Amino acid sequence: CNSASIMFLLLLLTCPMCLPKGDNKNLTYTYSWPKCKQNHSAANVAGFNSLPGHIKDFLYYRHCRHFPMLLDLPDKCGGPEGSADVFLLLVIKSSPKNYNRREVLRNTWAKERLQNGVWIRRLFILGTQNSGFEKTTLNNLLEIEHRKYKDILQWDFHDTFYNLTLKQILFLEWMETNCPHVRFMLNGDDDVFANTDNMVEYLKNLEDNDGSKHLFAGHLVKNVGPIRYPDSKYYIPVQVYKSESYPLYCSGGGFILSGYTARTIYNMSHSIILLPIDDVYMAMCLEKAGLHPESHSGIKALGLQIPDKSADPYDPCFYREILLVHRFLSVHMLVMWHHLHNPQLNCSLSTKM
Ligand SMILES: *[C@@H]1O[C@H](CO)[C@@H](O)[C@H](O)[C@H]1NC(C)=O
Ligand SMILES: *[C@@H]1O[C@H](CO)[C@@H](O)[C@H](O)[C@H]1NC(C)=O
Ligand SMILES: *[C@@H]1O[C@H](CO)[C@@H](O)[C@H](O)[C@H]1NC(C)=O
Ligand SMILES: *[C@@H]1O[C@H](CO)[C@@H](O)[C@H](O)[C@H]1NC(C)=O
Ligand SMILES: *[C@@H]1O[C@H](CO)[C@@H](O)[C@H](O)[C@H]1NC(C)=O
Repeated sequence: CNSASIMFLLLLLTCPMCLPKGDNKNLTYTYSWPKCKQNHSAANVAGFNSLPGHIKDFLYYRHCRHFPMLLDLPDKCGGPEGSADVFLLLVIKSSPKNYNRREVLRNTWAKERLQNGVWIRRLFILGTQNSGFEKTTLNNLLEIEHRKYKDILQWDFHDTFYNLTLKQILFLEWMETNCPHVRFMLNGDDDVFANTDNMVEYLKNLEDNDGSKHLFAGHLVKNVGPIRYPDSKYYIPVQVYKSESYPLYCSGGGFILSGYTARTIYNMSHSIILLPIDDVYMAMCLEKAGLHPESHSGIKALGLQIPDKSADPYDPCFYREILLVHRFLSVHMLVMWHHLHNPQLNCSLSTKM
């Protein structure tokens, strides 16, 4: 966080009069669901007591798929019918505290615009973070952003790594109602650099697919299975997932998919028990529908391998033709976006990736 943006936030939070007037949206829950109750019998599975707290928590609430919406944008795509005019919907997984990342994205690759004749729209998807005053402050922050930028969807669940699949399912449910005919989507983290100009060009050039056919492309991960070390961020014990292998999946840092495939994944999800690793879960849904993820060489979910070790890893020439790189922080994001839009940018063949 830099101190200037914190000052700006404090100013907004302590001064309600500073908010834009004439837009007093009713911010109460839009969709209400009864509070989902803990499944006490989850504790009966063998070895439950030896599992870490977050895994126990996951098992207790694994069946919960509906949470009230705190911040909704029902008109985001111009209504269900209008949604066919949204060519590329950017669906970015963010956490409430990542205000600075969202700001940079709004001003760079995730800018809403008419690009090459088609519309790009942006959404951040979030839960809640912390508790007490801290939680209230972060919720207030999101309300302010929601009012100002109309790009925030928030549900009332705890925004944690093991709840990412829940977040994705809640989004797909929302999409089914509000934006069912969106052509294509980018689904990714708030720390990726996506060249959305190139993405639009790639998607427009697809033969025979206007979003009504299958597309699911990214960085393919194959021949891996659940990590059984309790200290890993990705730890999945047998009580959560028995098999030793995952289906072929696209890394969740960022992948692109068609509206058709998103709706199919949602449809399949109703009958597949939640697995906390969201990118693997998506692949389980695809598999059930008889569909496959594919590789796109321009999606560098594990970062870019630059052959020349003495070269500047942020030389814009390396990034001219890619679709997405993970991970990029704010300063580089802003500078890179500007460089790539400089008509004077000169690149020799040696930097072509
Ligand atoms: C907001 O809407 C809800 C449900 O429509 C209603 O019960 C509530 O009174 C409204 N609140 C305000 C401040 O208008
Ligand atoms: C609760 O957990 C038990 C044990 O894992 C499971 O068999 C049961 O289906 C779960 N109930 C619900 C409502 O998910
Ligand atoms: C997911 O969110 C629910 C609702 O806030 C919470 O009860 C649960 O503990 C969270 N699960 C994990 C694994 O963080
Ligand atoms: C969803 O699945 C059901 C069968 O499980 C099928 O009849 C229906 O057409 C599917 N809908 C979509 C949009 O894929
Ligand atoms: C690129 O080359 C042109 C002509 O050789 C030059 O005028 C321009 O300053 C160069 N641009 C950059 C960013 O170096």
